[in-house]
Amino acid sequence: MARVKAIYRCEACDAEAPQWAGRCPACGEWNSLTEASTRPRRAVPVTASDQPQPLAEVDATDGAARPTGIGELDRVLSGGLVPGSVTLLGGEPGIGKSTLLLQAAASQAAAGARVLYVSAEESKQQVRLRAERLGLLSPSVWLVSEVALPNVVAHIDQVRPDVVVIDSIQAVFDSEVSSAAGSMTQVRDCAHRLVQESKQRAIATVLVGHVTKDGGLAGPRVLEHVVDTVLAFEGDRHHALRLLRAAKHRFGSTNELGLFEMGEAGLVGVPDPSGLFLADRREGVPGSVIVPTMEGHRPLLVELQSLVTATKLPAPRRSGQGLDSGRLALLVAVLAERVGLKLADFDVYALAVGGVRVTEPGADLAIALAVVSARSNVAVPADLVACGEVGLGGELRQVAQTGRRLAEAARLGFRQAIVPASAPDGPPSIELVRVRDLPQAINYLFG
Ligand code: TYD
Ligand code: MG
Repeated sequence: MARVKAIYRCEACDAEAPQWAGRCPACGEWNSLTEASTRPRRAVPVTASDQPQPLAEVDATDGAARPTGIGELDRVLSGGLVPGSVTLLGGEPGIGKSTLLLQAAASQAAAGARVLYVSAEESKQQVRLRAERLGLLSPSVWLVSEVALPNVVAHIDQVRPDVVVIDSIQAVFDSEVSSAAGSMTQVRDCAHRLVQESKQRAIATVLVGHVTKDGGLAGPRVLEHVVDTVLAFEGDRHHALRLLRAAKHRFGSTNELGLFEMGEAGLVGVPDPSGLFLADRREGVPGSVIVPTMEGHRPLLVELQSLVTATKLPAPRRSGQGLDSGRLALLVAVLAERVGLKLADFDVYALAVGGVRVTEPGADLAIALAVVSARSNVAVPADLVACGEVGLGGELRQVAQTGRRLAEAARLGFRQAIVPASAPDGPPSIELVRVRDLPQAINYLFG
């Protein structure tokens, strides 16, 4: 009988190779190829429990979301966690994933759910201490410190929870899978198993996944198509602000943004983010312009700042923080060609204040005005906002939901808005300055 020819699979990128090599030909990782065909794949049990049914007769309330009780989390989840679903919560170490899930576990337990919290990284004592400090010692949250997957499944059998938290999926290990803990194969196989268990028992499972610096989920990248929902928990560790977004969501929109502040009492939802972003603003400083942006369905007022400094660099810097640097370079080029503002001998910096990212084109006008304000050393009025997309010809285009943006600006006391000529009317308390192009806007503000 002919011997089955081995296939090798990379544990870093999952590529297959016909022969072993010291380095993966696909991703370049060293010592990552392992023989794949000799590893028996666990058979997926066939569940014939489901029967075809006319579409219209399918009961949609069957898998209704159960609120977590954490408002900002429920907003991003379009209501809550769905029984039988698996959610991946990704984020850099230390961002607050364990804190968020402990809070969510306690509030779900308070609402009557049985929650099993599997801590695969921290000891039970560590988790208890955190819970104690946060005042979250709930009798319906079951805690176990466990890394072995078969034991995790046994604990699920024993506790019969409605909600399971696995913190983190990278630390869970199945000894039947031959590769090292945290490797691609381990993470994927363990997650697959947990997905099956969740579906069979109608458990809502949340997996924590650590994200590496470059933004990819280390390992869990391959999980994105395995799970139903992928949440990204972001923020600057030096700022208290934390942003929660859905990168994928089978049960609702991926447009919503959840905002939290990390403090002494754990994570607290931020119901008025615009107020928070503008709290430390100093009025009358050149280079500062407020833009009403949209984050999902939520209007958000953000301060954009620019600094323009003389440089001898042959290729002057165009650096954006929380903004797209490419877009900033483009706007500097438009300013040079359409407005005649030459910045070839200047470095141009721009940033969004407060650790948020403003990447929508609707911020173009505000960025351009911030640069002009910084260069000319003339501040724009403190009660002014600007929004609009700038075209390569310097023309201004309307952006979606201008009305809601202006309403938010009016609510926070802004009295003037520079908007594209075609923009719809805003609330009566805010005066609209309609302009066709960038030169007109600059002329209005700087003469
Ligand atoms: P943690 O939830 O452990 O992060 P992750 O699970 O994503 O690695 O949070 C860690 C950080 O949060 C840590 O630096 C301490 C800080 N923190 C607070 O500031 N306040 C709190 O109430 C808690 C629990 C944590
Ligand atoms: Mg943690």
